Amino acid sequence: MKIGYCFTGSFCTFSKSLKSLEELVEKGHEVYPIMSENSYSKDTRFGTAEHFINEIKRITGKDIIHTIEAAEPIGPKKMFDVLVIVPCTGNTLAKLANGIADTSVTMAAKSHLRNSRPVVIGVSTNDALGGAGKNIAQLMNYKNYWFVPFLQDDPVNKPKSMVCDFDRVCETVANVENGIENYKKIY
Ligand SMILES: Cc1cc2nc3c(=O)[nH]c(=O)nc-3n(C[C@H](O)[C@H](O)[C@H](O)COP(=O)(O)O)c2cc1C
Repeated sequence: MKIGYCFTGSFCTFSKSLKSLEELVEKGHEVYPIMSENSYSKDTRFGTAEHFINEIKRITGKDIIHTIEAAEPIGPKKMFDVLVIVPCTGNTLAKLANGIADTSVTMAAKSHLRNSRPVVIGVSTNDALGGAGKNIAQLMNYKNYWFVPFLQDDPVNKPKSMVCDFDRVCETVANVENGIENYKKIY
């Protein structure tokens, strides 16, 4: 499959997401990387932007889409079979749930969704059981959104935090692929 793979600014999970990205490439998918403007530009205690950019380019062998104008053709050119957003911040969840497209990643989703193609979300936010809860629930109720299974990562110290199971990103993408195949067979 042709996969658009998006990073948003949950910097503490980038290393885990890189492994999921690598797994998808190893499985033979053609994977095109996308980074939100924040994730493309911010150095944090989890690593420099340059480090992650280089890793993503090394793994995919492709240039990174990181602007709204570069993301805009995704829909018109039918560039991807599936769009993966892993990790997906509370910020990006809120925008997706409310039809806002003011970043490379939210624009990618909007453009991709115009063809009714699937979007896979890997939640990673400290307020999943707080302010972001309603946005997650809203997206779950939308057509074309799929979720990597997610769970509380530290119930004692961060009782409202939830993070997806990065080991199950590939499995979720495979489920989407099978779903599409079944859909094609039926109709
Ligand atoms: C070091 C650091 C870690 C962060 N981790 C998270 C996180 O795990 N989840 C989250 O929702 N936001 C996190 N944020 C906040 C987001 O980066 C911020 O909301 C940003 O606006 C997200 O933009 P984006 O969704 O366009 O990438 C973190 C910020 C910093 C500086």
